[in-house]
Amino acid sequence: MSTIESILKETRSFPPSDDFRRKAQISGMEAYNALCEQADDHYLSFWGDLARELIAWKKPFSRVLDDSNAPFFKWFDDGVLNVSYNCLDRHLPLNANKIALIFEADDGEVTRVTYSELHRRVCQFANGLKSLGVAKGDRVVIYMPMVIEAIVAMQACARIGAIHSVVFGGFSAGALRDRVQDAGAKVVITANEGLRGGKTVALKATTDEAFELGGCESVSSVVVYQRTNNGASKWTEGRDVWWHKLIEGQAEECEPEWVNAEDPLFILYTSGSTGKPKGIQHSTAGFLLGALNSFRWIFDYKPNDVYWCTADVGWITGHSYITYGPLGHGATQVIFEGVPTYPDASRFWRMIEKHKVSIFYTAPTAIRSLIKLGADLPAKYDLSSLRVLGTVGEPINPEAWMWYYEVVGGGRCPIVDTWWQTETGSAMIAPTPGAVPTKPGSCTLPLPGIMADIVDESGAPVEPGKGGFLVIKKPFPSLVRTIWGDPDRFRKTYFPDEFEGKYYLAGDSAHRDESGYFWIMGRIDDVLNVSGHRLGTMEIESALVANPLVAEAAVVGKPHDIKGEAVVAFVVLKGSRPSGDEARKVADNLKQWVAHEIGKIAQPDEIRFGENLPKTRSGKIMRRLLRSLARGEEIVQDVSTLENPQILAQLQEAAN
Ligand code: WTA
Repeated sequence: MSTIESILKETRSFPPSDDFRRKAQISGMEAYNALCEQADDHYLSFWGDLARELIAWKKPFSRVLDDSNAPFFKWFDDGVLNVSYNCLDRHLPLNANKIALIFEADDGEVTRVTYSELHRRVCQFANGLKSLGVAKGDRVVIYMPMVIEAIVAMQACARIGAIHSVVFGGFSAGALRDRVQDAGAKVVITANEGLRGGKTVALKATTDEAFELGGCESVSSVVVYQRTNNGASKWTEGRDVWWHKLIEGQAEECEPEWVNAEDPLFILYTSGSTGKPKGIQHSTAGFLLGALNSFRWIFDYKPNDVYWCTADVGWITGHSYITYGPLGHGATQVIFEGVPTYPDASRFWRMIEKHKVSIFYTAPTAIRSLIKLGADLPAKYDLSSLRVLGTVGEPINPEAWMWYYEVVGGGRCPIVDTWWQTETGSAMIAPTPGAVPTKPGSCTLPLPGIMADIVDESGAPVEPGKGGFLVIKKPFPSLVRTIWGDPDRFRKTYFPDEFEGKYYLAGDSAHRDESGYFWIMGRIDDVLNVSGHRLGTMEIESALVANPLVAEAAVVGKPHDIKGEAVVAFVVLKGSRPSGDEARKVADNLKQWVAHEIGKIAQPDEIRFGENLPKTRSGKIMRRLLRSLARGEEIVQDVSTLENPQILAQLQEAAN
């Protein structure tokens, strides 16, 4: 690790304008530093005060942190609250008629929902779930398109104390089945079809397929929201129930289930380097606090803002920065069903103009693809409502950063590059935009209260410019509590013995520059970041070897202009090594196979066939070598131990 040197030499720095700084919640570096010092000196009261300020408690907590069973930390654990109450009911006295959601459908139709209307819809649906026997602690899988009802479903679970597990609508039947099974879900909520980019997505049919695979026996009901007029291809009587039928006649009030601070709010599955996806389990109060506090700090949120996060609720960004953080603040937000390139690459800019968006939060991959499809398009729209621009999901390259800053933000809006993870629940390293000057490509400095550092193998801090492991040295409220059903894996993965179980290991490498700014370099494990989505190489490999033609497979990433990383698969077939047209045909089939097994996001961009894979004497696949091959780099590794050096030549050539 210590040999990793910075590849970025970025020296430009952009302080906030005087006007922005003056009006900001955290105004100027003195204010930022003062908060950091407060957190340093009085860590527990720092978090305790925030929890009292930002959360409405049914019963206040008496203890901030219980670390007696580290790393299984408990925060505010004798406090009692309800997240849906915090996101809805508490806004009603003053803001019942404020718009909560501005929903823009794929076809451009706009629906506005006020806080009182959202409250009514959540209560009705919560009562509907109760009528299906869903009770506190039950797991509910949500497999939905990006529509209002996805948010209603999540909030309704929170209202009755059920634990939701949202599965991204692009995932396959197999991926859905695995998640339903691991969580032991009682109910699955889906839609007959989704709509994206003018095409339908067969959500109900995929759900049926997941059930046919077996393993979903814990599920007693499937609730189906009717998004399109097409109905549903199949219907299982006694199990399937239409959303609109379920809420018919349900009361419009639903007393929140008051839960303990540490009761789980949700599970969200994410890729690990090995084994099956991990059910990241988040707590109720700690998660809510992280979402609420970071939301106002990173976006300098003000009550008259129009906020838009382009993420899907299938990812953590949609949890923290659509369903919970903004609603918890009573914000007005745009939610979007479609894709940035439909009907054309102006969609985002047109929507910003139309809805007068003031805070916009998206991913580098979207920015890069929109630059490619029309760098001059933003200039055709009135984007003067914008005041803060955010990015998340992967490192943003300085060129894309500068375009975002100048062309979209008119040189006026701070770029808030937010580093965080499914596991951290909320943003960790990001500028508070009224204080911290930004630098293109850096997520800048940790938020006050987040003790992030970069260390070597022994846990000692590394000097500026040197790469190391990104760690967080103290527990914080929104940190993952455990891996659902696997506490041992939780401890080993995130609090490894190398650091005496004391530091949270993020799994990213990073370095710091002379002014202490963090620069994220990438994952240290075999996790790919494709279009801002985490994919375990292991999952793609398992999918490939599950194909009857495949004997062995290894998957690595290589840099990609738009997606960040592209998936390259090295495959050994059971028969002989194919070439020419036949290789192309098999490669195409295997790509479709992976799309079907996991989802289109995991589909390899490139497949290379060999008679074998390069292995060490002990039989371990030499992944670093494969990475060099994928990138077309010169092979500098020692290959003298290879059984058959000739395979290197074979693996240099892509089949497609
Ligand atoms: C990467 C998404 C650089 C990182 C919120 C992390 C980033 C993983 C950034 C988590 C960023 C996320 N700069 N890299 N601003 N944000 N990452 O769990 O590798 O889907 O570990 O959470 O994405 O991905 P996840």
